[in-house]
Amino acid sequence: MKQIRENQQDFVWTHVPSIPELGRRRAGAMRKFLSDFPQGKIEGRYMDASLPDLPFSDNTFDLALSSHFLFLYSQQFDLAFHVGALQEMLRLAAEVRVFPLLQVGGQPSPHVQGVIEAFQSQDREASVETVPYEFQRGGNKMMRLAK
Ligand SMILES: C[S@@+](CC[C@H](N)C(=O)[O-])C[C@H]1O[C@@H](n2cnc3c(N)ncnc32)[C@H](O)[C@@H]1O
Repeated sequence: MKQIRENQQDFVWTHVPSIPELGRRRAGAMRKFLSDFPQGKIEGRYMDASLPDLPFSDNTFDLALSSHFLFLYSQQFDLAFHVGALQEMLRLAAEVRVFPLLQVGGQPSPHVQGVIEAFQSQDREASVETVPYEFQRGGNKMMRLAK
């Protein structure tokens, strides 16, 4: 929250109208998660695993989502890691969505085009779509991959 206050101009304050409201929404999400976590673990709805290897059979899910991990750390993880991680997600789900497509610092990730080309060359559906939600300035693009 302190960092957001110091960098307010890097965010679009429409969907989230103010810093206090952002704090309330994040605290609410945290409380909701923490109240569900013990039961969710028992039921197997929360599992610890790391890309690029996920412990699920092929086609287990309709949808696999990644937010604020893939593309964010574009300097630490190269194009090959991104393609491998997304292939793994598409192995276990019919569709994959990634949002946003910015790297640390708020610039577009350099790996987006390479990922799109890698999947299109494998005859997969691969697109970048503009979405109505934008909080990080410039962060209104979503990648969609499908079999
Ligand atoms: C910036 S946080 C985003 C958390 C959450 N997805 C969100 O949108 O609020 C980045 C997350 O990536 C996770 N992470 C790091 N390495 C990973 C890997 N190899 N595979 C999957 N997740 C990883 C970290 O544990 C951390 O929770």
